[in-house]
Amino acid sequence: MAGMIKDAFLHELLGRMSVEEKAGQLNLLTGAMDATGMKHSDDLEAKIRAGHCGAVLNVYTPAATRALQELALASPLQIPLIFGYDVIHGQRTIYPIPLGLSCSWNQDLMQRCAQMAAVESAADGLHWVYSPMVDISQDPRWGRVAEGAGEDPWLGAQIAAAMVRGYQGNDLADPASVLACVKHFALYGAPMGGRDYHTVDMSRRAMEETYFPPYRAAIDAGARTVMTAFNDIDGIPASANRWLLTELLRGQWGFQGWIVTDYTAVTEMKNHGTAATDSDAARQSLDAGVDMDMVSEAFLAGLPGLVESGAVSETQIDAAVLRVLGTKWDLGLFRDPLARCNHESAIHPSPENRKLAREAARESMVLLKNKGGLLPLSKHQNIALIGPLADSRRDMLGCWIAAGDEALAASPLDGFREMAEVVHAKGCGISEGNEDLLADAVREASQADVVVLVLGECWQMSGEAASRTDIRLPQCQRELAKHILETGKPCVLVTMSGRPLELAWEDSQFPAILQAWALGTEGGHALAEVIFGDAAPVGKLTMGFPRRVGQLPMTYREKPTGRPFDAAVQYSSKYLDAPNDALYPFGHGLTYGEFRHGAVTIDSPEMQPGGTVTVFTEVTNLSTHAATETLQL
Ligand code: GLC
Repeated sequence: MAGMIKDAFLHELLGRMSVEEKAGQLNLLTGAMDATGMKHSDDLEAKIRAGHCGAVLNVYTPAATRALQELALASPLQIPLIFGYDVIHGQRTIYPIPLGLSCSWNQDLMQRCAQMAAVESAADGLHWVYSPMVDISQDPRWGRVAEGAGEDPWLGAQIAAAMVRGYQGNDLADPASVLACVKHFALYGAPMGGRDYHTVDMSRRAMEETYFPPYRAAIDAGARTVMTAFNDIDGIPASANRWLLTELLRGQWGFQGWIVTDYTAVTEMKNHGTAATDSDAARQSLDAGVDMDMVSEAFLAGLPGLVESGAVSETQIDAAVLRVLGTKWDLGLFRDPLARCNHESAIHPSPENRKLAREAARESMVLLKNKGGLLPLSKHQNIALIGPLADSRRDMLGCWIAAGDEALAASPLDGFREMAEVVHAKGCGISEGNEDLLADAVREASQADVVVLVLGECWQMSGEAASRTDIRLPQCQRELAKHILETGKPCVLVTMSGRPLELAWEDSQFPAILQAWALGTEGGHALAEVIFGDAAPVGKLTMGFPRRVGQLPMTYREKPTGRPFDAAVQYSSKYLDAPNDALYPFGHGLTYGEFRHGAVTIDSPEMQPGGTVTVFTEVTNLSTHAATETLQL
């Protein structure tokens, strides 16, 4: 019955729409509260008023979304807008970057984080988040590894599904739910050389085995929207790839939702060399199965003419429009278009949300090395906290912080000060050395009992358009580290970064290394808890740390070769100047406890395709620290 009412409503509405208004529903424009691409949308308000815009990104807060929604409601057909935004790891309360959070291996925690982001987003007037990003990547030169769940397809698939459940909840009309958008379909995590936006070239087998499982899992979990990738696949841009979008995604995988392109991906087809004009690009995209054009405005400008010339049928456009309108119906927008923006202000990080963010931050850190049990540190000694990231709140939030506010975040120093007496020195900038800062840091270190050095990447060094060919710590930071080590004081290295770094030198010099990513709003507090032993590290890497950048791309999941590695055999698969394996591989992560793993048994010697077996083992914590162990099979 409800389905019939919906259908009747949508078809009646469709029957009243001109081709221009249909194209309008497929047109996603950007507001100016954030900039996530090069092109801006001109005359946004006029287009909304005319019914030439179906959704808006980069506008949030109840007041800002309400102002635009009221314009849409005053348009001839009064069709409400959908508001979308890059809520990648929280909207107001920022939790760790996705790569960091994935290291918790805690899917329940990830689902709760996504749910918190959904509630905060909806309270900010939003209906749609551009997450989860589920692109598998084996190359930390690519800056966007920060936004994903690492190198493993199986784990990536579990995480993708958990996040979709967290965002969408059980009912989209529930004001605490938002539409998830799985991105970037497909293979965006495998650009050649790790360079963002670069070409991808891959076998169908690698697609199936390694890259597709997380997208598929997100679809199976009910994700309502999919975003196309910037790259081409087999020479055809993803946004015009009928095999990918229609045969595979809709046909084989049964995807029922709608497909949006990435930012200006339609008109970028001219640069790919696969479309001569914007209008031709629009035709190719629609033909391939795209429903909505992000910011290009090629659908809006091109579709009416394409229908008139017969190059595109109106039925094709109708199918896309019905998908978008159907989602608006499911969100309850036709019933109560102002439901998410009829209150005064958005919610700010609440105590409960901060608590969850802290739990997430605590579980995301990975203890890479802890020689002689240097960590945890006693609070009752003279501690010097040194480094360009030691007192940075902004860098603790990382890339893509949505409406997150650095003033509400805790830096390492903020966290340490709540627990112990600390002195602080910066030592250098992120990429520039400074003699005075260095001298100051060395003096503080010499007078301390123990040093904690916080080094790594600032927030702009990972995320979109942030690929690097050298993934070591910047030169000035390595200089600082050398001088601090020369004081002879016991020294813990805390690395903050959006990617696995090349830490071979650091590994050879520091007794203890803790990987702390960008941990979000509560990062500094969680870091102090782990450093001082109030909590034991839990994280296990979801992406290996290479010994040398020259090993990249790399993965623990390599297939056997005909000439397996043998250091003593010349004609075996190896490098002359570095081992094959990772310095810290996928799955690596220490804790303060010491675990004994018992024998492994299995309840059946056989398993049918699609079947299940159960594996048992006994895990014993031999130490006096409470700790968590994640078992990997
Ligand atoms: C970008 C990104 C994508 C994001 C979109 C909207 O260029 O590639 O991840 O969701 O634009 O901001």
